[in-house]
Amino acid sequence: MVVTTVTPANGRVRLTLSDHPLLNRPGGFLKLRPEGSNQLLYVLALSGGSFAVVSPICKHMGCTVNIDGPLLLCPCHGSMYDRDGSVLRGPTQAPLDRFQTEVSSDGVLTIYLEPRRT
Ligand code: FES
Repeated sequence: MVVTTVTPANGRVRLTLSDHPLLNRPGGFLKLRPEGSNQLLYVLALSGGSFAVVSPICKHMGCTVNIDGPLLLCPCHGSMYDRDGSVLRGPTQAPLDRFQTEVSSDGVLTIYLEPRRT
């Protein structure tokens, strides 16, 4: 599994999208680990040029979900999430932790590292 280590500043990670061509198409993704953290993040390109950033830790019992095309699948008991972390199939009852993002006009994706509860 290829994981890109990034250096956060002020609780944020900034990615220049032109440096990460995989994110420039629907279905693309990047696995990130902010420096100094054990937390893995999935950055997932969505249709329409937007992005979802989620924790891959399944809300059922804590396994790491896998990216499978348009879905996030948990290998332990079969929970299925949409690419934005919402639940499509249990046994999980809760969505993945999601992180707020912002894309600037000059093509920089900012990820706010405090998870947003939904
Ligand atoms: S830990 Fe993911 S479905 Fe059980």
